[in-house]
Amino acid sequence: MGEIIAIVSQKGGVGKTTTAVNLCASLSYLKHKVLLIDLDPQGHVATSFGKGKYDINGDFYSAMSNGANLSAVIHSTGVKGYDFIPSNVESDEDDKKLYIAPLREKRLKHVLTKLQAEYDYILIDCPPALGNVTCNALVASTSIIVPIQCEFYALKSLGKLLKLTRTIKKLYNPDLEYKGFLLTMVDLRNNLSKRVSNKVRYTLKGLVFDTIIPRNIRLAEVPYYGKPAMLFDKRSKGAESYLDLAREMLNHHGTIDSDTSSNNGNFNHVDE
Ligand SMILES: Nc1ncnc2c1ncn2[C@@H]1O[C@H](COP(=O)(O)OP(=O)(O)OP(=O)(O)O)[C@@H](O)[C@H]1O
Ligand SMILES: [Mg+2]
Repeated sequence: MGEIIAIVSQKGGVGKTTTAVNLCASLSYLKHKVLLIDLDPQGHVATSFGKGKYDINGDFYSAMSNGANLSAVIHSTGVKGYDFIPSNVESDEDDKKLYIAPLREKRLKHVLTKLQAEYDYILIDCPPALGNVTCNALVASTSIIVPIQCEFYALKSLGKLLKLTRTIKKLYNPDLEYKGFLLTMVDLRNNLSKRVSNKVRYTLKGLVFDTIIPRNIRLAEVPYYGKPAMLFDKRSKGAESYLDLAREMLNHHGTIDSDTSSNNGNFNHVDE
């Protein structure tokens, strides 16, 4: 049974999609079969593969509002063992249908169970919000990765996500765990980046990945080239850091359960 990992953050532009696209590429490079599902109606996963709306034949939301046959909307990235399910900007109406669907929080979990046998990893790219779509993702997932952009307000609003995770764990998905918090867009030449990264590590203790993702132009160029960084510049710092992240993730036996971590899952000091 494949692992389902949601890439989540309430904040926009922190590197969720970049992480999802490039981490999946690294996992498939390491011989794992991966599926990336875009739940964000902005549709940036397809853009990252250079695909516009005319290249897409059905998306996540059209499938969900039409019999929930996700297999029918799996697209190939062109990389062996790496598929994706797009979302596109015209999804808003269907998105609403998902909101009001009965058993809404468990709906995604139910349909993903069928795909779990076919992939080693299913990654979910979430929208920058903690609404119903993200709740569905948290209920369906085995673990979550939270990208944190290395900037002054890095920890601001993190409290809401931690609280939601606790609630989902309690009510729907007791096995949900943190894969880890990931420092993104780090520039260690600048003191602010260093200070923020130290503060995040101090606050979240052992829950933060050792691997950091540097600010790197190759990662910003992914939509321009229409492929993950490792496919157009394997030796770039950006591509290498996502390969390091995949290796760290695979070497880590299992995931970190916030309840058993050193601070006992109590993040009340994090800004809400
Ligand atoms: N490590 C990095 N170095 C340089 N640029 C980056 C890096 N990570 C992400 N970017 C760029 O920053 C912007 C935001 O990244 P991304 O789209 O991955 O964030 P997001 O959290 O998915 O955003 P949204 O919340 O809107 O979905 C993009 O233009 C992306 O190319
Ligand atoms: Mg995104």
